Amino acid sequence: MNVYGLIGNPVGHSLSPPMHEAGYDALGIDAKYVTFEPPKDGAVAAVESAATLGVRGLNVTIPFKEDVLSAVDPDPLAARIGAVNTIDFSTDPPTGYNTDAAGVIRSFEHHGVTLSGRAVVVGAGGAGRAAAFALADEGVAVTIINRTESKAQKLATAVTESDTIGNATAGGLDSLDTVVPDTDILINATSVGMKEDRSPIPQAALHGDLAVLDAVYSPLETRLLREASEAGATTIDGAWMLLFQGVEAFERWTDESAPVDAMNEALRANL
Ligand code: ATR
Repeated sequence: MNVYGLIGNPVGHSLSPPMHEAGYDALGIDAKYVTFEPPKDGAVAAVESAATLGVRGLNVTIPFKEDVLSAVDPDPLAARIGAVNTIDFSTDPPTGYNTDAAGVIRSFEHHGVTLSGRAVVVGAGGAGRAAAFALADEGVAVTIINRTESKAQKLATAVTESDTIGNATAGGLDSLDTVVPDTDILINATSVGMKEDRSPIPQAALHGDLAVLDAVYSPLETRLLREASEAGATTIDGAWMLLFQGVEAFERWTDESAPVDAMNEALRANL
């Protein structure tokens, strides 16, 4: 039996085990997916121990996504983003990937959204970083908006100076009113709206030509998505992003096409 897993602290009530195990079941793969909670300074030791124990793959979540970089060989995208959320132990050293970026791209593609024109990414934390690099690599002109504007500036510079075909600029929350009306793609990569009826985007700025992805998945219909839907926009909830980062990891580990419908069903049944 193959073992896959997740390291995080706190690892909490993760949706990844049922999602991945539904994938193994659908393809007849003999595998288990388990969660581990190493101490906060234990990221590298956890990766080394997993390698010793023959673990096939690990997902990595908060607070370890940067810490594990020194224990793996990151692929070029993960190295540019500066964070790893998926480790493949079939190589020595293990390979580090960032499938959050693919999670963003595949969520839009699954909903028939063309990735071109302009995008606004609100948030400059882990999710915002992955989204900004992913969209810039598709040739999209990205504006990163963050409460702490200096963090948005720093990320925009990192994206623009990295090997990308797009580009990135930055702004503070007060520029949303003017930027969003000219935007095709909007991503909320902040925690605003999580278990609260609040939106990071002024309602009046939303419009019908937008495709909106909210990284928040609790609730599934956030205030942002409700208001975007009322404005006639295409809306994509945060469970899609969670699904497709997992689908991408599954495919890296197994070299098979992931059974997306089975994984999606299991994920949503456990939300
Ligand atoms: P993640 O890895 O999930 O992206 P994170 O790194 O903690 O999480 O980032 C959280 C993001 O949400 C940040 O961009 C943060 O803005 P700051 O950099 O200014 O802290 C943003 N955020 C959190 N609470 C917010 C709020 N009340 N209003 C606006 N932005 C908020």
